[in-house]
Amino acid sequence: MAYLKPQRPEKVTAPSLRASKERGERLVCLTAYDYPTARVVDEAGIDIILVGDSLGNVVLGYGNTIPVTVDEIVSHTRAVRRGVHRALLVADMPYGSYHTSADDAVRVALRLVKEGGAEAVKLEGGLRRAPLVKRLVEEEIAVMGHIGLTPQSVNKLGGYRVQGKTAETARALIEDARALEEAGAFAIVLEVMPREIARVITESVSIPTIGIGAGGHCDIQVLVLHDMLGLTFDKTARFVRQYVNLREVMTDAISRFAEDVRTGAYPSEAESYGLPAEAAAELKLETDNKKSKLEKS
Ligand code: KIV
Repeated sequence: MAYLKPQRPEKVTAPSLRASKERGERLVCLTAYDYPTARVVDEAGIDIILVGDSLGNVVLGYGNTIPVTVDEIVSHTRAVRRGVHRALLVADMPYGSYHTSADDAVRVALRLVKEGGAEAVKLEGGLRRAPLVKRLVEEEIAVMGHIGLTPQSVNKLGGYRVQGKTAETARALIEDARALEEAGAFAIVLEVMPREIARVITESVSIPTIGIGAGGHCDIQVLVLHDMLGLTFDKTARFVRQYVNLREVMTDAISRFAEDVRTGAYPSEAESYGLPAEAAAELKLETDNKKSKLEKS
């Protein structure tokens, strides 16, 4: 199948993203949560792999990101780390892990980097998180910001809605982005906001913007892997383009396996092991093997 090969085969790093923005390259980001998905995503040439706290929605079945723990993110990041070679690996800081104090946040971020093998961490929030982003960067941790619809604020926001639809809230988003850049973030996720505002932000910061439901003007696009593969159970948002219905593909394969077992079509001789003729003779056992039977007759 023909597809566009990654433009840059070399390892992606946090600083290299800014150079990519300057060159006008359109990079790609996807989530991954385990070794096989990480390997497939990395080998497909995706530039950034995020162990997102969307883990809570698409893998752990929590229904939202609120219950996701640091231990869960660390464990999944370790698995993803083993499958990623080229992409930049970013791990999400889950809800509650950076809300109590800057020192607590530094401890969590260090765990994601040292134990998980992440090269950067992501946290939600704009202007009010800028001092924390600055502190993490001072501790040599690369930080990705995340503004607009921030799913960890679902209870405060009262649902998942488009953000920045009034002049006032749009201005606040632009301010958030500038504050994060100023604080030292190397990139910013812009989630579910009008494309015009994402464009203003993308043009007014020198670090790359990573859009999800924020239109085509962002420097980089991200989707949740299970959404674009059709491996979800809920209605997906309008910005999700589903490239395959993996749920259907899997259901079909699993049903065919069950059918083969029930009818005796699985396993065949080729899918099992026969007893060598000498051992069969010594044990006075008839072999199942068609070839041995033919040899005998
Ligand atoms: O948790 C996640 O997967 C994310 C992306 C949607 C950006 O934050």
